[in-house]
Amino acid sequence: MRVGVLTGGGDCPGLNAVIRAVVRKGVKVHGFEFVGYRHGWRGPLEGVTMELGIEQCRGILPRGGTILGSSRTNPFKLENGVQRIKDNLASDGVDALIAIGGEDTLGVATKLADLGVNVVGVPKTIDNDLSGTDFTFGFDTAVNIATEAIDRLHTTAESHHRVLVVEVMGRHAGWIALHSGIAGGANIVLIPEQPFDIDEVCALVESRFESHYSPILVVSEGAVPREGGSMTLQSGEIDEFGHVRLGGIGDRVAKEIETRTGKEARAVVLGHVQRGGTPTAFDRWLATRFGLQASDAVADGDFGTMMALRGTKIVRVPLIEGTGALKLVSPEEYAEARVFFG
Ligand code: F6P
Repeated sequence: MRVGVLTGGGDCPGLNAVIRAVVRKGVKVHGFEFVGYRHGWRGPLEGVTMELGIEQCRGILPRGGTILGSSRTNPFKLENGVQRIKDNLASDGVDALIAIGGEDTLGVATKLADLGVNVVGVPKTIDNDLSGTDFTFGFDTAVNIATEAIDRLHTTAESHHRVLVVEVMGRHAGWIALHSGIAGGANIVLIPEQPFDIDEVCALVESRFESHYSPILVVSEGAVPREGGSMTLQSGEIDEFGHVRLGGIGDRVAKEIETRTGKEARAVVLGHVQRGGTPTAFDRWLATRFGLQASDAVADGDFGTMMALRGTKIVRVPLIEGTGALKLVSPEEYAEARVFFG
């Protein structure tokens, strides 16, 4: 059997670990041959391939990024996109495809599966907001990077009696902010799921200073002020998702705090640092287990499925489970963290 592999969407620590496990198990146990498709769905769309075998996978386990390259190409948004993919898979002699990606990539996989393409999905995102799986690989690495940054910012905030606002990734979900905020001992965490009240934030900042400590805020890039509250965003500064462009929400919150409380505030945007570099041991472990299971799913002809972590087990669930509604932070989980605010 000839199996195509692709990685789509934003890169994520652990992608190479999945590829390595898929190939090792595929070659050694199932006798597969592999075709690497480059740059996400652009690969099968334009017939851009690379050799993929055990040799190409040597030494890649601890490497960030993806040896296959990635893109956000969506064949369903392009003329004849789906037919071109089907034609290229046929001419490459590919019987099945393993798509490793997030909401968009797996959304495409779901639709292709409905159209009869033999596809299996592996969920990835540092944001951890895909449904159907307890965790996605990449998330643990991102949380560790953010936590280390918060630890470091505590001491500089204290030295200068400043407010430090750390903006972390998470366009729609606050998982990275919540987990790193708890792990790093942040004093306030703002997430997209719970619009914030800037007056309450400023009151917490002031009470923190009253107890002679400098506050650290962790803010998801997708956090928004409460409608009807005293902080408003101007239409020109908002992007298609309703988030602050340029400088971002972290910068905007720092400025509001400074103006309203008179306390000096600085914003730090962690950005793509959270996505780059070597994956943690947990992410390598999870990614590897997803890869092994994806190879088995192809061997079993179990197409239209996505690998998922449930407790400590890797199971296969219908692809649609991962690409339906996003997995968001519940009010209860957020309330738990609020005990540490202020
Ligand atoms: O989906 C992961 C993510 O890292 C989001 O948190 C972030 O909003 C987005 O990707 C940014 O991706 P890019 O810069 O690649 O468009």
